[in-house]
Amino acid sequence: MSTQVEVRISSGLAQAFVADLERIRDRLPELAYCRAAHEEIKTRLRQSVALGQDFYESEAVNFNKAYFAKNYLKALLAVSYFRCRGLFADSAGLIDLGAGAGPATIAAVRAGLSSERVMIDSSHSQSDISSQLCTALSISSRPIRGDALQVIQAFPNATKLVSYWLCEQSSTGAELIRNVAGRSALFIDYPRYLDRVREALSHSHVIYSIDHRFHLPSALQRELNAKSIRVHSVAAVQRNAA
Ligand SMILES: C[S@@+](CC[C@H](N)C(=O)[O-])C[C@H]1O[C@@H](n2cnc3c(N)ncnc32)[C@H](O)[C@@H]1O
Repeated sequence: MSTQVEVRISSGLAQAFVADLERIRDRLPELAYCRAAHEEIKTRLRQSVALGQDFYESEAVNFNKAYFAKNYLKALLAVSYFRCRGLFADSAGLIDLGAGAGPATIAAVRAGLSSERVMIDSSHSQSDISSQLCTALSISSRPIRGDALQVIQAFPNATKLVSYWLCEQSSTGAELIRNVAGRSALFIDYPRYLDRVREALSHSHVIYSIDHRFHLPSALQRELNAKSIRVHSVAAVQRNAA
């Protein structure tokens, strides 16, 4: 079963988002959102992939300069929507796979989800940045550096947050997605990866997907230098009762 939903964000959460970006600008200016970084980083990412280089070690700061704010806002919209509808209510903690700088975990914290949070990333640089950001934003979370697929075995009942991580797993197959989804999971990714989620889980899980152009309140327009943000690549899944 697949259900499409509309998204909103409360003014309190919008303010929290703006305040977080301001704190990052004050305390970690090298990570502050930079629109100009976007095109450049996309080109370098393609080059690194072609050369087989580990982009998230060498370019972690630039990656987050370009993507952190938008990934955080998308996760905030998704998490707050699904939380309002009672999804993830029985979660035994949250585990963020390929957490990077942690936008999905930070969004979950701001939306009031579970107090148990684990962020896993294989990159030293990304893990270091997530620790710095969590300190700057007074967020407590347990960082683990390692391979997400190994680490999740220890957290079978946690809700998985999976934000732009499936795209890193070039061999992603149905088994991987079923393993990741478990009882409940929130996937944010490019549409083709969400199609794989839908195919792999169609009978075992209820799938809610977001497809919405979100018009940014004026404070967020200033922050992100955009009038709207498209949240079309989000799916939340919850396992059907047996
Ligand atoms: C595109 S970034 C996304 C980061 C973050 N989730 C976001 O939404 O901004 C992908 C992240 O996955 C990490 N990663 C890739 N493969 C991994 C694996 N097998 N285990 C843990 N982390 C992994 C990379 O180091 C990188 O930080």
